[in-house]
Amino acid sequence: MELPNAFRQETARPGSRDQQLTMTQASSSPAADGTPRFDPGVAHPARVYNVWLGGKDGLAADRKAAEEVAAHRPQVVAGARANRAFLARAVRYLAGQRGVRQFLDIGPGLPAPGNTHEVAQAIAPDSKIVYVDNDPLVLAHARALLTSSPEGACDYLDADLRDPEAILREAGRTLDFTQPAAVLLVAVLHFVPDADAPADIVAALAGALAPGSLLAISHLTIDFAPDAVASGVAAYNTLVPAGITARSHAEVTALFGGLPLVAPGTVPVTEWRPDHQVRPGQSADLYAGLATTGRPR
Ligand SMILES: C[S@@+](CC[C@H](N)C(=O)[O-])C[C@H]1O[C@@H](n2cnc3c(N)ncnc32)[C@H](O)[C@@H]1O
Repeated sequence: MELPNAFRQETARPGSRDQQLTMTQASSSPAADGTPRFDPGVAHPARVYNVWLGGKDGLAADRKAAEEVAAHRPQVVAGARANRAFLARAVRYLAGQRGVRQFLDIGPGLPAPGNTHEVAQAIAPDSKIVYVDNDPLVLAHARALLTSSPEGACDYLDADLRDPEAILREAGRTLDFTQPAAVLLVAVLHFVPDADAPADIVAALAGALAPGSLLAISHLTIDFAPDAVASGVAAYNTLVPAGITARSHAEVTALFGGLPLVAPGTVPVTEWRPDHQVRPGQSADLYAGLATTGRPR
């Protein structure tokens, strides 16, 4: 498959940042060692997740990985959907109750119902969203993430979460980090192993935000079914080279680095400000939380 290199597309009133749909590149493509970043025979996190969500963009390797993990932990499918529902609730809360108009969504995955810009701009059409992902297939589909309302703006960065400085620099072309913003790290930090210091990455992002900003995290855990989830994680890590690290409640909370947590704190993803009755026994192997941030000025 021919994949596009990063490109920039300007629409509507040329020259107006508010009217721009842009795609920019903050990371090297192909990979730094010169190898192509897209191999259809290898499963990728965004596409495996897409299979669990019921999407059609997974390739054979992705479907195999998705099915293998689900054989160990069938709840992974409900978990993926519960996570997606958390994303929508969090964005509605941020736009509706916190007045946030700028969103940095890192690891958005393949376009799916309820993309951040759709949820945010349904509440506040002038919202600006920058999406960041390191999967070339997400880049190839990113036009669907760039259907901004005329009043707002959408941007896409082909970049890696492990380089927060590059992300902040490039995202600053669309977002004004002197004003409140929300950073969304929804089901992405579990792709960062301890060796890559995920808490430092969160701290670097949080430290760049203005007062009134917030940071959302959802994260895989084995806490609710240690044996089944651990074997699902092992299967995933055999089939998906990116690999995944499940973390405990204390470890997920620690990723916030002591930032003040919005009630109800770090909780199972289905219990974070649910907009429906959570059924007893309804489980998803993720924690979610949202913290306020913003350096004093
Ligand atoms: C499970 S999907 C989550 C999608 C979306 N946030 C949601 O919750 O519905 C994880 C996404 O994170 C991306 N990702 C994983 N590691 C990444 C990294 N180091 N830098 C940027 N994106 C990454 C994957 O490519 C994938 O699109």
